[in-house]
Amino acid sequence: MEKEGTNEKQNCSIYVITRYCNRVSDFYGYKKSSSQNEGTPNSMNTTAQQQTQKSKSGGKGALVVYFSRREAASSVYKDQPLEIGNTKKMALFIREKTQGDEFELLPVKDYPNNFKKTSDVAQEEQNNNERPKFKGSLPDVSQYVTIFIGAPVWWGDYPMIVHTFLDSVNLDGKNVVPFSTHEGSGLANYPEVLKRKYPKANVLKGLAIRGSDVAYSRVNVKEEVDEWLDGLGY
Ligand SMILES: Cc1cc2nc3c(=O)[nH]c(=O)nc-3n(C[C@H](O)[C@H](O)[C@H](O)COP(=O)(O)O)c2cc1C
Repeated sequence: MEKEGTNEKQNCSIYVITRYCNRVSDFYGYKKSSSQNEGTPNSMNTTAQQQTQKSKSGGKGALVVYFSRREAASSVYKDQPLEIGNTKKMALFIREKTQGDEFELLPVKDYPNNFKKTSDVAQEEQNNNERPKFKGSLPDVSQYVTIFIGAPVWWGDYPMIVHTFLDSVNLDGKNVVPFSTHEGSGLANYPEVLKRKYPKANVLKGLAIRGSDVAYSRVNVKEEVDEWLDGLGY
């Protein structure tokens, strides 16, 4: 079981530079490899290991929370909708391997089906520190030992709807695991966001996969997810 370390500041800066150089960035300017297990591995403490054991045996071990879009996911797709959102694809493999539950963050408001417009909306939400609402009622997170929280990187951060979720729950004492798809930013600031938000949580080693590699099947997503989860003790 491995704990997440500090990382990704460099990628965020690269992203911010790209953002100003080319507002409708094609996200191919990033230096990171197509898929990455981010972070500085450390041994997990005993409590977390025990918790993972519990998670493997208990039906309510893992909850996979994610946000993902088929439409306007990147300029890479030239506004052609994906068959399934990149992050959703990852999330479903995580759910399968952990035999956990899923909670998809479905926005109440409609986002545009065009990348440029989506980009503008996302940027505005971020600049205004908005908390976009999601549909449905919150899952009872107290039932779960481990919460996976994944999303596409949007402007170097979790999309603001994920912040709405993070603000709505207290995950202190839980295993919390970030995952992302992206076009160069890797896990961006996800581990730091989670650590800051839940100082008493065990933030474990996350996984980032390049979205276009997922969409165009250039990587075996199931294999990457399974290998990563094996490393987390699943
Ligand atoms: C509004 C917006 C902002 C994005 N910002 C970034 C970014 O900062 N860094 C990055 O690497 N990719 C960025 N991307 C690309 C997405 O993270 C990537 O295409 C992802 O795989 C989409 O996942 P999804 O299909 O689950 O929504 C952005 C995409 C959108 C739509």
